[in-house]
Amino acid sequence: MISFIKEQGLFNLTAGNHSYLMYLWPDGLLCHLAYTAKTAGARADHLAVNVPWTFFAAPNPNDKSYAYEGMTAEYPSYGSPDLREGAYQIELENGSRVSNLRYAGHTIYNGKPQLAGLPAFYASESEAETLEITLKDAAIGLSVTLFYTVFNKEGAICRSARFANESQKNIKILNAASLCITYLNYNYDFVTLSGRWANERNIEKSPLRFGSQSVSSARGASSHAQNPFVFLAEPHADEQKGEVFGFGLVYSGNFCAKADVDQLGMCRFSLGINPYDFSWLLEPGESFQTPEAVTLRSSRGFGNLSRRMHRLVRNNLMRGKWQHQERPIILNSWEAVFMDFNAEKIEAFAQEAAQLGIEMFVLDDGWFGKRNDDTTSLGDWTENKEKLPEGLKALAEKINRMGLQFGLWFEPEMVSPASALYEKHPDWIIQCENCAPSQSRNQYVLDLSRQEVQDYLEEAVSKILKNAPISYVKWDMNRNITESGSQNLPPNRQKELGCRYMLGLYSLLERLTQRFPDILFESCSGGGGRYDLGMLYYMPQTWASDNTDAIARLKIQYGTSMAYPAISMGAHVSTPGPLSIDRRAPLATRINCAYSGAFGYELNPLNLTDEEKTAVKEANAFYKQIRGLIQKGNMYRLLSPFEGQETAWMYTSEDKKEAAVFYFKPLFSAEMPAKLLKLQGLDINRHYRLEETGDIYAGDELMNIGFRLNLLESRGDYASKRLYFKGL
Ligand code: DGJ
Repeated sequence: MISFIKEQGLFNLTAGNHSYLMYLWPDGLLCHLAYTAKTAGARADHLAVNVPWTFFAAPNPNDKSYAYEGMTAEYPSYGSPDLREGAYQIELENGSRVSNLRYAGHTIYNGKPQLAGLPAFYASESEAETLEITLKDAAIGLSVTLFYTVFNKEGAICRSARFANESQKNIKILNAASLCITYLNYNYDFVTLSGRWANERNIEKSPLRFGSQSVSSARGASSHAQNPFVFLAEPHADEQKGEVFGFGLVYSGNFCAKADVDQLGMCRFSLGINPYDFSWLLEPGESFQTPEAVTLRSSRGFGNLSRRMHRLVRNNLMRGKWQHQERPIILNSWEAVFMDFNAEKIEAFAQEAAQLGIEMFVLDDGWFGKRNDDTTSLGDWTENKEKLPEGLKALAEKINRMGLQFGLWFEPEMVSPASALYEKHPDWIIQCENCAPSQSRNQYVLDLSRQEVQDYLEEAVSKILKNAPISYVKWDMNRNITESGSQNLPPNRQKELGCRYMLGLYSLLERLTQRFPDILFESCSGGGGRYDLGMLYYMPQTWASDNTDAIARLKIQYGTSMAYPAISMGAHVSTPGPLSIDRRAPLATRINCAYSGAFGYELNPLNLTDEEKTAVKEANAFYKQIRGLIQKGNMYRLLSPFEGQETAWMYTSEDKKEAAVFYFKPLFSAEMPAKLLKLQGLDINRHYRLEETGDIYAGDELMNIGFRLNLLESRGDYASKRLYFKGL
């Protein structure tokens, strides 16, 4: 998979059908050569764009035939004769920001290293091979090791960089990208997953142009607004064709993904920690590890790339007991009662849920301290005996006896000003001198860079988890970081807080998930405000959005599926209410939409009519039959809600013997009585029985001609259709 041809100075990383080529320029500058379809070799002169113009500085006064600005440095520095923005920047004690990294050596080995304190993909020795290239600037004592791990099966490459200070003086890192690639042209669309609270991960596409285009977060979390997974794609690329590059950061804090198109029409793409409001002081002998980035290339459009990414996340990022385990059907209390509940109400819900075939009851916000609204008690993780007089243990046991597992909500990273914790430790919050800390949702953020805060939270959460049979935790986080400052850090390290917060959170999550390996952890941040690869390493499920309206969810879930697998995506059926849009989509459509993830409900089961109860029972029985297919199958997106009035997606099992198709038509239109929906991913040599009717179809027929949908079956808006095929 990885080779180095010494005579040519050529590195070839071949991952599945894709090759990533780098070349050592004679002066030791490591250059990117190509990221392309599988290619055995290449001549280095491909990369030296001849730029004899006098306005480019010549790195070699004796050879003016090349200039770095016409080349493609792999990890470009600031201040060298390449005046485009680099992949990193440092500052020395003497104020200089200039450095020059040159090749110093490399190693190739089987497997993949873990990154200390950071979430990262993992691999066995036979699954992956790793290349470490060490670059050094001997004059200033800076060493940077670039890591490349090649996953052959899914054709993915993981990358990161480790900075080491080998000098006797301090070196401050001002920018440190996890990944940088310079393409020789810019004929690509920049495709991002952008949005806002309750409308996350909309697909945005715009052609690259001269200058820089970026998406980023400076909110202290990966955010609802932008997602740390982006694409560069040929303009004509669609689900099935065209060259597409996907880039994801395994990190949950401030990030930046940037495409700079220079004056020669080359595109330098970088991804990593957002350099805005970041720096890291490296004392002599210290090192700094960037988060990991993953990249995949597809020559067969977005669909192929997403499916490979889904498998990689399922097989090489998620961990623990729940990694591959089918997810239980949940009833979550939030939209049904918010914080207005008592034990009696909860027990009645659970009783009804058990009758309906639901498998887990989750008690959301409001069970602790004096929490009856969102002004109080975060930080005080003690049971509210007024609401639950017999306590959580008794409640959970009772619910277990009804045949349901029990899950619980926490928001450990936060503290309410009205709480015993804040009274005792007002200095534990994130704040800076001379400015009042802002409240958001009436709460402050705890400074997780502090060991004592992590320790307190580990104990407080563990105490509850140890004391009751709790099978699931919803880990929420309901505000972003303002007035970023830590009382624990010296002035010259204040800009490290964003990153140190994440390291503290990751350490806490590692400890808790190791301590409670049987618990299914689902992360949440006001819905999908921290849906990223970093969180999925610790918690294999994420609540996709606070918006549970099925029609709005079509876009949210379709956009999410661009990078993240169905098994990771919490998706619940709700009733139109205060949180969702007041839109009366039929129950069947709400169910069909929520099926495309880790399925559940967010409603009062006692309010369901008898007819609805029958439908919910049937829906749960059917989901139990197909959840393996959805959660572990291959997803094909058929019709995009971003490009038309309809949405369709489907799942096929790995052996192609089963397929489930979901079609949605939010607005009824009389002009089209029928539609041929072309399916994908089936076996062309197999026949399939449509379970709903018993009719038999050939796989090639369904893919090449299509399945004929009767659009007049339902004459209302918000219609949907589910088709379940079994191979014969
Ligand atoms: C935000 C979450 O997204 C909701 O599902 C719910 O858990 C609330 N927080 C509770 O405060």
